[in-house]
Amino acid sequence: MRHRITFPRVEGTASRQAHADLPPGTYERELGREGFFGAATHMIHTHPPTQWAEWDGPLRPRAFDLNKVPDDVRDPWAAPVLLSNAHVQVRFWRTAGRMADLVRNADGDELLFVHRGSGDLFCDYGHLALAEGDYVVLPRGTMWRTEFSGAAEVLMIEATGDAYGLADRGLAGPHAIFDPAILETPALDDAFRAQQTPMNAKETWHVRIKRLSMISAATYHFNPLDAVGWHGDLAPVRLNVRDIRPLMSHRYHLPPSAHSTFVCKRFVVCTFVPRPFETDPGALKVPFFHNNDDFDEVIFYHRGEFFSRDNICAGMVTFHPCGFTHGPHPKALKNILNPQKTATDEVAVMLDTRDPLHVADDLPNGVEDTEYVNSWRAKETE
Ligand SMILES: [Fe+2]
Repeated sequence: MRHRITFPRVEGTASRQAHADLPPGTYERELGREGFFGAATHMIHTHPPTQWAEWDGPLRPRAFDLNKVPDDVRDPWAAPVLLSNAHVQVRFWRTAGRMADLVRNADGDELLFVHRGSGDLFCDYGHLALAEGDYVVLPRGTMWRTEFSGAAEVLMIEATGDAYGLADRGLAGPHAIFDPAILETPALDDAFRAQQTPMNAKETWHVRIKRLSMISAATYHFNPLDAVGWHGDLAPVRLNVRDIRPLMSHRYHLPPSAHSTFVCKRFVVCTFVPRPFETDPGALKVPFFHNNDDFDEVIFYHRGEFFSRDNICAGMVTFHPCGFTHGPHPKALKNILNPQKTATDEVAVMLDTRDPLHVADDLPNGVEDTEYVNSWRAKETE
C-alpha cells in the first residue's frame, strides 16, 4: 500500500481556486501528476512560463504538417507511422478510392479518425458508411477495407496489445458527452451484400495481416467478407464528433481530461469540439499553462480556428512530450480573460500517452516545422 503525500497548502500570493481570479498581472501554471487526476500545485508566476529565449537539446515542442506526407496510399499498412511506443502507433493515411486488399491488425485495436473524405467501410461484421469526423473502433483481428469516393485522409491510432474502452463519465452520468446509444455498429445491409462475391463466381482476395508490425498475406478464392449473420457484444463502433456534447462550465475552465473519449491502459484519446467560452469575469478562457508531467501530449487538428495556437492549420499535429510547460500562444494569451469570440469552433483529437513517444526518423522533408519551438518566443518579442 502506498498513500500519496498530500497537504493542500497556500504559500505567498495565490488564487483561492484553480483557473480563476488570478492575482492581477500573473500567470498560473499547473504542475500536475497522473494526467490532471493526481497531486497538483498551481504556481503563480510573474512571466508566461513558455517565454523561453533559447532552446537546446532533443526534448522540445514539435509540430508536423501531415498534409505533406505521401497521398494516394491504398494500403493502410504503408501509411507512415508518425509517433509510436510499445503501447500505441499513430499513422496518417492519405488515400483515395478503393483498397485493393483486405487488412487485419493482429497487434491491437485500431482507431480510425476520418479527417477528410467519405465512403464505405466493409468488415467481417458488415457495412458502415464513413463521413468526415467519424471515429471507428476496429477490434483487434477485424478484417476490413474501405472504399472512399475520392481522396480521403485518416488518422490511425493503434492500441497495441490492448482494447479501446469508453471514458468514465463520473458525476456527469452515463449519458453525458455522448449517449452510448449513438454508437453505430456495422450492418449486414444491401451495400454489404452487394460487395459479396456472387454465387459460383471466382475471385482472388488477399488479406494483409499485421502482426509484430510485419505483414503477412492470406489469399482466398472467394470474398471472405461473406457473413450472413452474427450475434455478440464485440463489433466495430462508429461515433461522429458531431454527436459529442462537451462538458463545460461557464465559471471554470475544465481540464482536457473532461473531453476524454476513448481510454486504453496506457493512453487516452480526447476530443475537443466547439463550445462556448467561459463567461465568468474571473475564469480563464484559454487552456492554462501546465506541466502534465506523467504524460506525453499529442494534438491532431481537424477543423476550425485553433484558438490557443498560432500557425496551426487542419491536418497538423503538435507533440509536447512531458518535461516542460506548455500553454497558449502569446496571441491567445492576450485574450485569456476577454476572448474575441463567444465560442470555439475547433475540432481536434488529443492523444495523451503514459509512456514516452518516439518520433519517426524517416519523415519526408518539410513535414516537421523545426521553428515551432520558437513560436512562443517570436511573438512575445514583437
Ligand atoms: Fe497539455
